[in-house]
Amino acid sequence: MIDYKTLSNKYGTPLYLYDFNHINDQYNALKSAFRARKSLICYAVKANSNLSVIKHLGDMGAGCDCVSIGEVRRALLAGVSNYKIILSGVGKRDNEILEALEKDILMINLESEAELERVEIQAKSLDKKARISVRVNPNIDPKTHPYISTGLHENKFGVDLDTAKRMYIKAKNSDFLDPVGIHFHIGSQLTELSPIKESSEVVADLVRSLKAIKIDIKFFDIGGGLGIDYEGERLIKPYDYAQAIFETLGTLDMTIMCEPGRFLVGNSGEFITKVLYEKVNEDKRFVIVDGAMNDLIRPSLYNAFHRIELLDREENISKADVVGPVCESGDFFAKDINLPQSYHDDLVVIKSAGAYCFTMSSNYNTRGRVAEVALEDGEDRLIRARESFDDMIKNEKDYLI
Ligand code: LLP
Repeated sequence: MIDYKTLSNKYGTPLYLYDFNHINDQYNALKSAFRARKSLICYAVKANSNLSVIKHLGDMGAGCDCVSIGEVRRALLAGVSNYKIILSGVGKRDNEILEALEKDILMINLESEAELERVEIQAKSLDKKARISVRVNPNIDPKTHPYISTGLHENKFGVDLDTAKRMYIKAKNSDFLDPVGIHFHIGSQLTELSPIKESSEVVADLVRSLKAIKIDIKFFDIGGGLGIDYEGERLIKPYDYAQAIFETLGTLDMTIMCEPGRFLVGNSGEFITKVLYEKVNEDKRFVIVDGAMNDLIRPSLYNAFHRIELLDREENISKADVVGPVCESGDFFAKDINLPQSYHDDLVVIKSAGAYCFTMSSNYNTRGRVAEVALEDGEDRLIRARESFDDMIKNEKDYLI
């Protein structure tokens, strides 16, 4: 049982709590599902890039899927080996490509022909051979929220099959490129297996046709996207996921890579916020809390659902909107949910807040980013200090004239 009261007195609110034991369970469930083959789980750092979270996963054996050189630096700082780090992303700057090559990471994932040329130029300047993979866009509907769906040709991600093939041939013929991997990622919060399996089939067929022309790919990267339980969704079981991939690969002997973010950390996290007061306008009841959209933007941005619990209250239940203090009507955590009557300083727990919550937070309304705390084996420890006012203005104050 988490003692929310003690923790919120100790660290203040709003606050993120992460259960590191839950992260272990998720990692182990996925790793063991793939145990019949060589596999590498590269944690999608964007989901939660706290250094201690990365280190925790790295210590268990995970690599990292990064989408900026900043994330690569975080992974290295957290002790993840360079040979387990990959760099993806639809638009990489030259300096990011150069640094990734200097740091000798496992591979750079290419998302366009133009990018292949930039990577070749940078590799040549270092007189190195860049290990690359190509992100294939299989044009398959992942059946998830349109904002987090990425595997259709209408999305900006990856390249079509013909382009991919051309890129592999170019890479094979280049002195500065080494095509070692292939990649697809069709979307996030996926709850249906069939689009993943179909995509894997398409990409495995491409691998076979490349093999026929002597281009031998070693890493089969199936991206991330496994959904989690926010509101009772039916989930893809890791075992079924792995079996589906094994089936599509058949006798192809490749290291399977995956890039889960949300699956590993999403349900490890909770956001703790305090009731400031209640307010009733005409028929509408608002519970105003000290956390806001700048701390956790998923409800405002995607209309995403997060379970909400008001601690230690049961009486006078009625419909309420749970809202923050930011000056936007979109600043809400939930609308029209049943909630007991609340009082000043009551604690509210917002569930499933381990992925894409802190990492998408901002200083909007000059609100400091909140503290993050790890819970492990019954102990709690601070893993990110609350941002102070001085932290927020430090890059501006010297320019005040
Ligand atoms: N690999 C690639 C290439 C990705 O683009 C992503 C996520 C992942 C892996 C990890 O996906 P996951 O396993 O976490 O589903 N902010 C949104 C989610 C954006 C996902 C972006 N890409 C949200 O709050 O739902």
